[in-house]
Amino acid sequence: MFLKFLRNLNPESSHHISILSLKYLSRFLETTYKDEILNTNFGNLTFDNPIGIAAGYDKNAEVVDSLFKMGFGFVECGTVTPVAQYGNPKPRIFRLKEDRGIVNRLGFNNCGINQFLKNFNQRNTHLGVTGVNIGPNKDSINFIDDYLKVYNSIYEYADYVTLNVSSPNTKNLRDLQRTEDLSILTYEINSLRESKEIRKKIVLKIDPDSTEKDYSKIINIVQKNKIDGLIVTNTSISRPEFLKSYHRNQSGGLSGAPIKEQSNKVLKFISKETQGELMLIGVGGIERAQDVYEKIKIGASLVQIYSALTYNNLRFINEMNQKLSTFLRNDGFSNVKEAVGIEIK
Ligand SMILES: Cc1cc2nc3c(=O)[nH]c(=O)nc-3n(C[C@H](O)[C@H](O)[C@H](O)COP(=O)(O)O)c2cc1C
Repeated sequence: MFLKFLRNLNPESSHHISILSLKYLSRFLETTYKDEILNTNFGNLTFDNPIGIAAGYDKNAEVVDSLFKMGFGFVECGTVTPVAQYGNPKPRIFRLKEDRGIVNRLGFNNCGINQFLKNFNQRNTHLGVTGVNIGPNKDSINFIDDYLKVYNSIYEYADYVTLNVSSPNTKNLRDLQRTEDLSILTYEINSLRESKEIRKKIVLKIDPDSTEKDYSKIINIVQKNKIDGLIVTNTSISRPEFLKSYHRNQSGGLSGAPIKEQSNKVLKFISKETQGELMLIGVGGIERAQDVYEKIKIGASLVQIYSALTYNNLRFINEMNQKLSTFLRNDGFSNVKEAVGIEIK
């Protein structure tokens, strides 16, 4: 009933209400389905299960504890920028109901790193791995300095940090994925990390719209500059012919079911090229446990979900984890790690 009400509101109001509800429902939420077969790790970071919530849902780190209680194995907050910004004019989120997708052009609306840190540090740090996705302010004169500034503020508290160079909604941001700028960004951020006593994992989040040649160059650069992994992928600027929904031609990033094949193609390519040398987090179009399993088998050690939350209830992540355990057992695995990349070896 409540979910039906949310789905009939405009998408941004419904998102605000879902955040508010999770804030106040936190103590009533029960933790959740657990099964050792799903336990995994990323270096010294350990996860109850490999299914995380993707960046963009909890941009300001307001409901981290509730998301763990919903069953997520890890939470990625952000994207957070150095100073607060409003983002693009509304309306800026559109449901593609018939296609089970979303188009958004939010443009990094967030409360800025200072308020973010206050919220972030109120979470219960024992519930699980929490990453922070960082990006530059729209009006910044030097994007790379913005990443360094936010990294400096957050590295002591975040379990890992994601460099978001792939949102299509900040003008020129995706240029940072191209060689020269990406070399500078990853070199600088790694040098900053090495200058600290606490050394956090850093991953890069990439788009699904580049060429194989581009991805090969990205792999080279991140390996050279010791970036630990890739999140594959962000939203897409493509608009597949099969889209039926009224809002299909809104500008922004497409997510959900319509980008699954495209994201998986990129994941598979990168996975084949890197053969386990880079940690890969698969995201894009996951709706069911089968989709999670598919990404794991083509090389994702962890996965993330966003759009499907809009179309499901609170029990959905637990149910997905339960089904994933069954698939793994039926295929004779004793732990999810054994299934990673099984189809590309
Ligand atoms: C409304 C909305 C806001 C998003 N905001 C961000 C963001 O701030 N930073 C980011 O890296 N990705 C953001 N994303 C992209 C998601 O993290 C994810 O990469 C993408 O939606 C594909 O996953 P999905 O098909 O499960 O939604 C956003 C996605 C949506 C739908």
